[in-house]
Amino acid sequence: MLQRHLMYKNGFSFLCGIALLTGSLFFLNAADKKPKSNKKPDKDLSEFMREKLAASNQILEGLATEDFKLIQDGAVKLQDLSQAEKWRISNDVMYKQHSSEFTRVAAQLQKQAKEGNLEGSALSWLQATMSCIECHKFVRSTLIAEQ
Ligand code: HEC
Repeated sequence: MLQRHLMYKNGFSFLCGIALLTGSLFFLNAADKKPKSNKKPDKDLSEFMREKLAASNQILEGLATEDFKLIQDGAVKLQDLSQAEKWRISNDVMYKQHSSEFTRVAAQLQKQAKEGNLEGSALSWLQATMSCIECHKFVRSTLIAEQ
């Protein structure tokens, strides 16, 4: 089943994108385990972010097995998490923008999974993953440096 979809003309780059982003996520994850000289993020926030990672992995599993229920559940989790109060660690305009962009993409992913649109869901997942990376990059370069 999956193979049929991957044979679309963008199939190869699509697959590469997923591989690349999954790699980046693992890298991000590993980087977090290194001791930090700066203040550590508070424990609640850390657990909260781990839940996001779990939801994101669940979505990838759903995409890989064409299980739209799994994708949708993961997207709902991401959406719920992104609306939680803990998320708003900063009032910075840019941070808010990253945050609302992520919420928007999570909603879009949920809609596409509901419609059974595999390519659309995969693209939205890629966008959501890019948005994780962008926000972290921003947080590290700006917010943490200011502490
Ligand atoms: C709107 C900003 C924002 C977005 C989007 C975002 N995060 Fe985070 N994330 C943070 C902040 C802030 C921290 C805490 C600071 C740090 O560790 O650099 C963090 C930390 C993390 C951590 C490290 C937690 C720990 O144990 O220290 C993980 C894992 C994580 N995020 C996963 C994700 C995943 C997966 C996504 C996308 C599905 C995502 N985040 C999207 C803001 C964001």
